[in-house]
Formats: sequence, structure tokens, C-alpha cells
Amino acid sequence: MADEDGVYRSLELAAETVGDIVPTVFERYYRDCPDAAELMSHMDQHMQGRMLDEVLRLVMTENYADDDVYLNYEVKNHRLSYGVQNSMYPALFAAVQGTVRDALGARWSEEFESAWQHRLQSLLAEIEARAA
Ligand code: HEM
Repeated sequence: MADEDGVYRSLELAAETVGDIVPTVFERYYRDCPDAAELMSHMDQHMQGRMLDEVLRLVMTENYADDDVYLNYEVKNHRLSYGVQNSMYPALFAAVQGTVRDALGARWSEEFESAWQHRLQSLLAEIEARAA
């Protein structure tokens, strides 16, 4: 992962500042997307952590060519097995970005904002392309 990537750098800074961001991301997500909270009501912290590990890995990825098979699998599995709707993805990514932005406070910059916007747009495009 390129050190100069704004998404990666801001995530690193957030981890240095607040440690584990997982609980805050899910708190925020459940608040902003109650339908997702209902689908996830049985998930414990470990399962949340495993899911967020994958979400963060994708958020830190610049090119999704190597994730084609993985994304095909997760998007289909989330829709068919867990009942996840397409509209639940943007809110999840917004909760991750919002958590990082709040953790950085005054250190959040235009550069970080733009890096996140581009990355999330490209990740959402990959997900939408796989959504039936
Ligand atoms: C790119 C986005 C996402 C990725 C990479 C992802 C990844 C994962 C992974 C790896 C797990 C398995 C955790 C484990 O048991 O080890 C999981 C579980 C789950 N995810 Fe996601 N997830 C994503 C988005 C979402 C969204 C938007 C929702 C909306 C509610 C969601 C709902 C769930 C639920 C309900 C489970 C638990 C399934 C079970 O009961 O086993 N996920 N996710």
C-alpha cells in the first residue's frame, strides 16, 4: 500500500489517535442506517471486526482487478444470504469515513476528503456493477 495514499494515511492517523475504530464505526452505522442495524443485530464484536477488516482492506485498495472474485462473492452472498440492500453500502462507507474524519479533527484535510471521495466512488461503482 502506497504511503502517499490519503485514505491509508488518514486511517493510520486515526488508529494512532483512537486505537480501534470498529465500535465507533458500527455505532455510527447503526444510528444512520437502522435497517442495517436490524440485519446485524446478531453480530458480535468479533464478527463485526472480521467484516470491518475486509471493508478497510477494500477501502485501502486502489485497483480492484485482483478483488473481482471476492467482490462477486461478497455482494451476491450479502444480498441472497443476509438480505443486504444496495443502499446499505454507501451508509457503511460513510460511517467509516466519518469516524476517521472525527478522529483526526483539525488534521483532516482537503487532500484526505478528496482521496476518500474518489476511493469510495470507485468502490461503490464496483459494488453497484455486481448488484442485480
Ligand atoms: C464492501 C462491503 C462489505 C464487506 C467486504 C463485508 C464483509 C463481510 C464479511 C467478511 C463477513 C463475515 C464475518 C465473519 O463471520 O467472519 C460479513 C458478515 C456480515 N455482513 Fe458484511 N460486508 C460488507 C458490507 C455489508 C453491509 C453494507 C451490510 C449491511 C447490513 C452487511 C451485513 C453483514 C451481515 C448481516 C453479516 C453477518 C452474516 C452472518 O450471520 O454470518 N455487510 N460481511
